[in-house]
This record gives sequence, C-alpha cells and structure tokens, in this order.
Amino acid sequence: MSKLPCTLRLARGSDIQQIAVMSRCLIEVGLHGWTWHPTRIARALRGRETCVLVAEVEGRFAGFAITEFGDARAHLSLFAVQPAHQRRGIGLAMIEWIMESVLTAGITQIDVEMRSNNFAARCFYEALGFLPTGQLAGYYQNIETAVRMQRRLGLPATTSTQ
Ligand SMILES: CC(C)(COP(=O)(O)OP(=O)(O)OC[C@H]1O[C@@H](n2cnc3c(N)ncnc32)[C@H](O)[C@@H]1OP(=O)(O)O)[C@@H](O)C(=O)NCCC(=O)NCCS
Repeated sequence: MSKLPCTLRLARGSDIQQIAVMSRCLIEVGLHGWTWHPTRIARALRGRETCVLVAEVEGRFAGFAITEFGDARAHLSLFAVQPAHQRRGIGLAMIEWIMESVLTAGITQIDVEMRSNNFAARCFYEALGFLPTGQLAGYYQNIETAVRMQRRLGLPATTSTQ
C-alpha cells in the first residue's frame, strides 16, 4: 500500500488518554491490568529523559512512540500506530525521527522488547535493521516471553552488529 504522509510532533497533555488507550488495546492486550495508564503516560511526558512523539495524519492522532534516553543507550518503551493506518509508513517515519534524535544526543545504541508472539513488530524492527539479542522468559507478567532487539546507530542497517 502507498505511504501516507504524516506530521510528527511532541506529545501534549491532550494526547495522554489516547496514548494510554492505544497502549492498552494494542500492546498490553491480554495482560493483567493496565501498566501504561494515563498517570504513567503523564509522567513520561514530564520526564526530562523521555521523549513522547506523536504522528498525525490530516491533523488526527495516528500513532505515538515513547523513548527513554540513557547515557549509553536509548530504549523504546512504547510504540504503536492506529490499526487503520498500519503498513503505510507511519511507524517508519517515527522510528527514523527517533533514531536521528538518538544519534544527535550522542547515543549509538537503541533497544526494544516485544512480546514473542508479536509478529508485526518483529518484522517491523527487522526491516529497520534491529537484530535479536535475546529472550526474557516471563517478562510480561509471567504470561509471555519478550524478545529483545537492538540496533546500532551510525552504521548502515545491513551491517548492524550486536
Ligand atoms: C509494529 C507497528 C508499530 C508498525 O507500524 P507501521 O506504521 O504499520 O509500520 P510501517 O508501515 O512503517 O512498516 C515499515 C516496514 O516494516 C515491516 N512491517 C511492518 N508491519 C509489518 C507486518 N504486519 N508484517 C510484516 N512486515 C511488517 C515491513 O517491512 C514494512 O515495510 P513495507 O510495508 O514497505 O513492506 C504496528 O504494526 C503497530 O502499531 N502494532 C501494534 C503495536 C505494537 O505491536 N507495537 C510494538 C511493540 S514494541
């Protein structure tokens, strides 16, 4: 399908509910409780080392990404695109923006965990040059294993190494 033009901006308070609901429905679905609830998203928005990015399509909320910037590495904590807009390049636009920001901050490593049954996410990160670095049994509330993936920045995707 053709790419959908999107606009990227930093999140604001009015995005909190939508981010939390998308997290519950698309990322935490099937797990106990709601760990990325609105209060936690609000804390992320205030965090000095956390970037909350929003993608919009025709002025409407289409996706978001939460990235934590550490000293030596960045971590993708949450990342999602509205189902109706998936496979239209919005995730790619967000992650390219994030990788450029991470590199600008002097960080050359970015990592992410995803549920082991999350085929779409695995394909997405692989397409972006992330490589699997291990599995974490029971990472998701002892219900599901996580796959950890990593991308070294400043290197072409095809030559990334662990
Ligand atoms: C993973 C996710 C963020 C990808 O976002 P997206 O906007 O659909 O991704 P893009 O359109 O930018 O895809 C870029 C490339 O990734 C790969 N890809 C993305 N989704 C894929 C899928 N379902 N199956 C196979 N490959 C996929 C493809 O190579 C794609 O390029 P192509 O469409 O030209 O073939 C989206 O599926 C999503 O929100 N899933 C639910 C939430 C989630 O799982 N988040 C990640 C948790 S860590």
